[in-house]
Amino acid sequence: MNKIIRKTEDLEQWRLSLKSDINFIPTMGNLHDGHQKLISIAKSSNYNINLVSIFVNPLQFEHKEDLKSYPKTVDKDIEIAFSNGADVIFIPNTIDIYPKNNKSISYLKASKELSSALCGLTRVGHFDGVCTVVYRLLKLIQPKNLYLGEKDWQQLLIIKNLVEEKKLNINIISVPTQRDSDGVPFSSRNKLLSKNEREILKLFSNELSHAKKIFKKDKKIDLKKLTKKLESKNISIEYLEHLHPYSFKKVQAEDNISILAGAIKCGKIRLIDHVFLMKRNPIIAIDGPAGSGKSTITKLIAKELNLLYLDTGAMYRAISWLFKKEKIDYDKETELKTILNDISIVFKPNSLSQQDVFINNFCVTEAIRSQEISSIVSKISSIKKVREFLVNEQRKIGQSGGLVAEGRDIGTTVFPDAELKIFLTASIDERAKRRKSELEIRGTEEIDFNQLRDFIRKRDFEDSTRKISPLKKAKDAIELFTDGYSINEVVEKIINIYNLNVPKEIQLE
Ligand code: PAF
Repeated sequence: MNKIIRKTEDLEQWRLSLKSDINFIPTMGNLHDGHQKLISIAKSSNYNINLVSIFVNPLQFEHKEDLKSYPKTVDKDIEIAFSNGADVIFIPNTIDIYPKNNKSISYLKASKELSSALCGLTRVGHFDGVCTVVYRLLKLIQPKNLYLGEKDWQQLLIIKNLVEEKKLNINIISVPTQRDSDGVPFSSRNKLLSKNEREILKLFSNELSHAKKIFKKDKKIDLKKLTKKLESKNISIEYLEHLHPYSFKKVQAEDNISILAGAIKCGKIRLIDHVFLMKRNPIIAIDGPAGSGKSTITKLIAKELNLLYLDTGAMYRAISWLFKKEKIDYDKETELKTILNDISIVFKPNSLSQQDVFINNFCVTEAIRSQEISSIVSKISSIKKVREFLVNEQRKIGQSGGLVAEGRDIGTTVFPDAELKIFLTASIDERAKRRKSELEIRGTEEIDFNQLRDFIRKRDFEDSTRKISPLKKAKDAIELFTDGYSINEVVEKIINIYNLNVPKEIQLE
């Protein structure tokens, strides 16, 4: 379907007869590679109708000259949009979007917290104009998915906030900043730059990406020094800030991810760029009681997000297996000390695209799942020395991040600074049902449902009352009660929350 709609009445008419959902990509035209990426990602992610709007919104320009000089290339835009996967292009006039004396148009104010930083400080009214036009377009188009670039990070957060505040049932999908081969982010205003001005922008973007590399190594940044360096290269800075990436508040020592964002003036043109600074790659921590589905869900998330899967439960089970095999008297401190000094636990991917667990070179992947091990693991994992040993091992594995870890104290003790903490729960009956079918699939042993239920209840009690690292929800963990949800639904939910907490750009690094 290649359709162009210009009038709001025609759009409303077409919308009424439409049976499919809509992916919406709002633009102000002058489409570049960044827009092309948004359109093609939307196209490839589902079978929805892809609608691109082209509308230069006068409300978001503070200066008439900026609006006048904004590049307008509609014919070319139509060609680019269709060839990248647009099905429908909506090209309204100003009068269609803002009809005179129309009381149903809401002129909105952007979130005060989010708009009183960075660009909001100098571009007075800009984000109010963005909110007003986006809300108007969303009401007209009623999309299921809204695709936005991370290049305009502040705008993205402000629109997310708008969608939440207005309780619109719309998914926002963000796409990382797209850059030209010289490191400069694609932007419609780049067209207006002279060769010399482009060079200045290039220097700025490259300095930001250099700062990012240094930060990963040094874990700190000297903003004053960087500002001086940029100024010495004749870069005229409007602002350069190092902030929390979601609240735009001052960065705290414990923040792992932050944003280094700046605006510069190249001649008369104002341009923005940013990088996310990270001390380590992101971590997802999944806690919850026995049988809540942690392992299955964590494995799927690791696969979906291409993260390392750290199965801490398997580590406790492996130690339990070894203690049993070696007949260790784990009540004796000295015996414990000797054996712990000699333990090595390794995860290795296997041919089934899963991972095997080895303890001191024994492959114990299957053996540690037996009911025999299940019945001793809680006791063994409550031994202080064992916990200290394994927490230390787990932190070593997680030092550079990039993993999803599951366990009963992952969010509270092992990785309290994880970007995302999920506490998975389910009723005792549901968990017993899951455990039973898991054991049946393994075909290893017969076990009665009621017995399993009693066993889980006892395990919950032991886990939550033990002195060391008891089962407990971290204060900032998100609790997901999974009764009645399929595994895929829970995985999708967690990935959506992850996307709200970690910029796409750094997920792909
Ligand atoms: O990012 C843009 O191009 C504009 O701000 C938007 C979202 C299309 C609203 O006019």
